Amino acid sequence: MSDRHDHATAPIRLRDYAPPAWRVESIELSFELGIDTTEVTARLHLRGDASRPLRLDGEGLELLAIALDEQPLDAGAWRYADGVLEVDGVSDGSVLTTRVRTHPAANTALEGLYLSGSREAGFLLTQCEAEGFRHITFFPDRPDVLTRYTVTLQADRARFPVLLAGGNPDGAGDLPDGRHWARFVDPHPKPCYLFALVAGRLEKIERDYLTGEGRTVKLVIWSEANVIDSCHYAMDALERCMRWDEQAYGRHYDLDVFHVVATHDFNMGAMENKGLNIFNAKYLLADPDTTTDDEYKAVEAVVAHEYFHNWSGNRVTCRDWFQLSLKEGLTVFREQQFSADMNSTALKRIEDVALLRRAQFPEDAGPLAHPVRPAEYREINNFYTATVYEKGSELVRMLAGKLGPEGFRRGMDRYFERNDGRAATIEDFLAALGDANDLDLMPYLAWYGQAGTPRLRARGHFDAGARRYTLTLSQHAQAHADLPEKPPLPIPVKLALFDRDGRMLALRMDGQTVGHEAVVVLDRDEQTFAFDEIERSPVPSLLRGFSAPVILECDYAPADLALLLTHDPDGFNRWEAGQQLAALAFDDCRHGGQIALQAWCNALAQLFADPTLDPALLADLLTPPGEVELAEREQEVDPAQIHALRQQLQKQLAETIGAFALAQRLAALEVAGPLQLDAVAKAQRRLKRRVLELLALIDAPTAQARADAQYRRAQGMTDRLAALSVLVRSDAASAADALADFRRRHADNPLALDKWFAVQAQLPGERALERVRSLESDPAFTLKNPNRARALLGTFASGNPSGFHRADGAGYQLLAERLVALDALNPQIAARLATAFNGWQRLEPVRRDAARRVLSALAEKPELSRNLAEIVAGVLK
Ligand code: ARG
Ligand code: ZN
Repeated sequence: MSDRHDHATAPIRLRDYAPPAWRVESIELSFELGIDTTEVTARLHLRGDASRPLRLDGEGLELLAIALDEQPLDAGAWRYADGVLEVDGVSDGSVLTTRVRTHPAANTALEGLYLSGSREAGFLLTQCEAEGFRHITFFPDRPDVLTRYTVTLQADRARFPVLLAGGNPDGAGDLPDGRHWARFVDPHPKPCYLFALVAGRLEKIERDYLTGEGRTVKLVIWSEANVIDSCHYAMDALERCMRWDEQAYGRHYDLDVFHVVATHDFNMGAMENKGLNIFNAKYLLADPDTTTDDEYKAVEAVVAHEYFHNWSGNRVTCRDWFQLSLKEGLTVFREQQFSADMNSTALKRIEDVALLRRAQFPEDAGPLAHPVRPAEYREINNFYTATVYEKGSELVRMLAGKLGPEGFRRGMDRYFERNDGRAATIEDFLAALGDANDLDLMPYLAWYGQAGTPRLRARGHFDAGARRYTLTLSQHAQAHADLPEKPPLPIPVKLALFDRDGRMLALRMDGQTVGHEAVVVLDRDEQTFAFDEIERSPVPSLLRGFSAPVILECDYAPADLALLLTHDPDGFNRWEAGQQLAALAFDDCRHGGQIALQAWCNALAQLFADPTLDPALLADLLTPPGEVELAEREQEVDPAQIHALRQQLQKQLAETIGAFALAQRLAALEVAGPLQLDAVAKAQRRLKRRVLELLALIDAPTAQARADAQYRRAQGMTDRLAALSVLVRSDAASAADALADFRRRHADNPLALDKWFAVQAQLPGERALERVRSLESDPAFTLKNPNRARALLGTFASGNPSGFHRADGAGYQLLAERLVALDALNPQIAARLATAFNGWQRLEPVRRDAARRVLSALAEKPELSRNLAEIVAGVLK
């Protein structure tokens, strides 16, 4: 494979960007599809400067024929080496024709054209982002080359009855020998990463959608026949998000058809190919018996995310891959707004901030840290990160907050209007938002250019005589090699002040009453803000709604946090105060302290008894920061100890609430009858799970009996999986039977089986490794399926700190061995799983040495892909 052995190649740098020498006005692509070999003919209508060489990307292609302006080319007129085809004698307006052969069934990297499922029953599909198109044909594989596509597919009708490509259908018909053809024309010029085709035996559901502009669009969802009934929820979600984008952003769909296809073999969540979205089945299929409540939400979110890309990504695309967050950060933000509108704003914000802290903060604090707009990369697939997506979304959120809803909408209208049909940059985005509001937003560019989570320090001072409260805010960048001198960032800090009875105070600043909440922007190293007519020392609530992606450092008294936790009218801010208090309580567990621990437990016990509180919010309030997040606060990380202390923390909480109250609540949350999927029922199940988990910590026999019963009676996957997880984690005698039952019951459903693998990979502590090893010999385990590899190895390595970080290093050894095997099949997935090693430098010395040994040996292996080599070298540095 030509990607290998070239670790030493120089990185690609943002500052070296140059516009393409040649453009492709239009392309006629034709495919003769087959499982083992597919032949691709491409006719490129070229525009450019004849004095510059034509260089096209192509990886691993077998070139069968090449012609320029219909004349076959002499061997001397072209060269193909190192992934580049160079052609001489091309002039402006030339047509270059190439014919190549590819091998879909042999493509285990799942990039380019590949086979999903078995040779007999599977189907063909493509994945081109970021650089998969070069595995299909010769082309300038860069997002700033926008081209009109005409795609003709030909295949055996019996084996490939369904033929799909992006764009509008433009004819279909029979061919001799049982073959048939179908043509698609996409009127919208697009970069090649948005090309897609699908061919095989698929079933569909469809629905007409009438856009606000009066266009009738045929919405079609395709899947293999056995799961087509699980596509209805996604269809409803699609219709909801299409309507929402019309109302919230004035964006309408722009083709006659919108196809969505589900596959079990996919490297990521889903892909926004123009007119032909392709989804990992995990984010499309939903059915009450096998899909959890959280997964229903994820399906809705990912359907929306991919659909929203039609404008933020497709109509306006990225100039180069450094601008990836221009489409991803923005689209994550749009999805977050949509999901908040469909469900609950507070719960969505909790979920997203928790994800940011669990996934992005550690990334930003370790050797893989990179700016939202990276300055360089070797393998772009390694940059589809939490930083580009989640932190990128936070940056858009700050801008939206600064402009307010109307100003932001004005700015977005300007952005879409100005850049429609273009490949844009982050600067174009900031300029459009700023220009539409007569503001200079360029200071926010600094956020895109520096890695590391900034620290925001806050000190309050109350002057009783002057009746004045002053707040001094300062910012501190994390020292990071990429930018020694970091300029101060504009940090919007949304705040409120509470009196000691938990009431929000009216805020007076500079002689003006500004309401009960204010946003101050810290744009220097340090600034002081004053609030007048304050009678008694208030409790500040800072960074409300998580108004900037920073780490807040403020010497809160536990009682102050407890006051916010119990009194803040906003659910997210309550949760946030609770998380900070829980961290202090965690420290108490370590040092034998009592004050924060008591304050946290008592406040939550009080909330537990409040029947008016939303059960879903209560469930989140009862959940302390996770082990990964707690590790971020440590100088020297001992994951086993963190696990033990966090258990102790939760046990203390459970004891404060009391076994009786927990059991009583559990009984009250038990509902008879068929499964309900409304918000109330989901909220109750969420709380039920948390209560059961807490009860298991202090009264295992009762909790296990309840879990047993819940497992047997469960009407849906949420309850069944919650019960199974409690049985497995608490070592119930019945755990083995329940696991065997689950295995049998869901043997034919890969998505359910993934959960069976994952729940066991999460077994805490030393036992996890043996379990993972034995699960690897389950006949259903395979490294070839990304979902399966992630469910077992990804969950173990990234979702189970106390299991993976064994002091003897055996967890590291296992992962390293599997990475090598996986890398030979699928470099993208290997590289992704390898990020589990991130942060090893901060482990306590025994584990640190073990990790270093394993990683150094891995880095020495000569056969690593560029993907894996970049991550291993990066983690190690
Ligand atoms: N653009 C896709 C999304 O919706 C993800 C593509 C990821 N590609 C990759 N090679 N990692 O977010
Ligand atoms: Zn995306």
